[in-house]
Amino acid sequence: MKPTVAPYPLARFRRARQSDAIRGLVRENSLGIQDLIWPVFVRDGEGIEEPVPSMPGVMRRSVDLIARAATEAQALGIPAICIFPYTDTALKTEDCAEAWNPDNLSNRAIRAIKAAAPDIAVMTDVALDPYNINGHDGYVVDGEIVNDRTVEALVKMTLAQAEAGADIIGPSDMMDGRIGEMRRALESAGHQRVMILSYAAKYASAFYGPFRDAVGASGALTGDKKTYQMDPANTDEALRLIERDLSEGADMVMIKPGLPYLDICRRVKDTFGAPTYAYQVSGEYAMIQAAAQNGWIDGEKVMLESLLAFKRAGCNGILTYFAPQVARILQG
Ligand code: PBG
Repeated sequence: MKPTVAPYPLARFRRARQSDAIRGLVRENSLGIQDLIWPVFVRDGEGIEEPVPSMPGVMRRSVDLIARAATEAQALGIPAICIFPYTDTALKTEDCAEAWNPDNLSNRAIRAIKAAAPDIAVMTDVALDPYNINGHDGYVVDGEIVNDRTVEALVKMTLAQAEAGADIIGPSDMMDGRIGEMRRALESAGHQRVMILSYAAKYASAFYGPFRDAVGASGALTGDKKTYQMDPANTDEALRLIERDLSEGADMVMIKPGLPYLDICRRVKDTFGAPTYAYQVSGEYAMIQAAAQNGWIDGEKVMLESLLAFKRAGCNGILTYFAPQVARILQG
């Protein structure tokens, strides 16, 4: 349907922009606290909160302080928190066995959050990179990232996280066939309630740089992730991946990175109508913070505008390191 527009001066669009009240009346999209998923970094130790240099304002926290942060997030009304572990180099191996250790950092953090803040949903990351000696999301055999053996490991990792109490499993590995295998394993282990938010369209992006510092994977990573993460030049492939993951039992889907890929968000939402999320990744966060710290932009306004853009593009929610800051503003 093509909207009818009266000719000037019968139609004056500026009438609808004349005051806060009128602008509010005609506003099409809004950002709410319920749209936020907060990614956090967990490290070992106790009482530790250490800044991540490439992500000003972001901390790595020990499990006890992650639980406290989750309690604060819950009080702010943030619906979900997503855990990423900063794993000790000594625990990184070729077989990545730490990934499904019931007492690894992530699983301890899940239990601690569930005990301290039972109303906040806990999301996880499923990929081998924090535990892999070479920093890849999958097993490397003769220089190749192998798919099917990796999927077996991811399934074990998924079950350990579900066992620890995770509400939402977040496979970020981009292996083929993992959603179906994970879903079947969850069903047969009695975890019918556990959701899967698939990083279905995850691009091989340079915007992940600061994150790899935050989880200590930058040093370990050899080569790039282009044989499993998507080519930034592609759009149709993203739709096929989303369709595939939904057909294998994903409850929700994600596009990653965020702002540079809003066209994908819009197409995905229009095509499938499934719960759709975007990840405003570390590099996007770092760019805004760096420019704000230099006084080159108004950090708070840019933050809010960037997040509203995701809503306009059709996203149901956004993973963002800004979550607590935004929630405080939105709470007034
Ligand atoms: C790893 C993973 C990455 C991110 C989330 N999970 C990095 C990567 O794929 O190399 C990136 C998040 C960010 O940049 O904020 N599986």
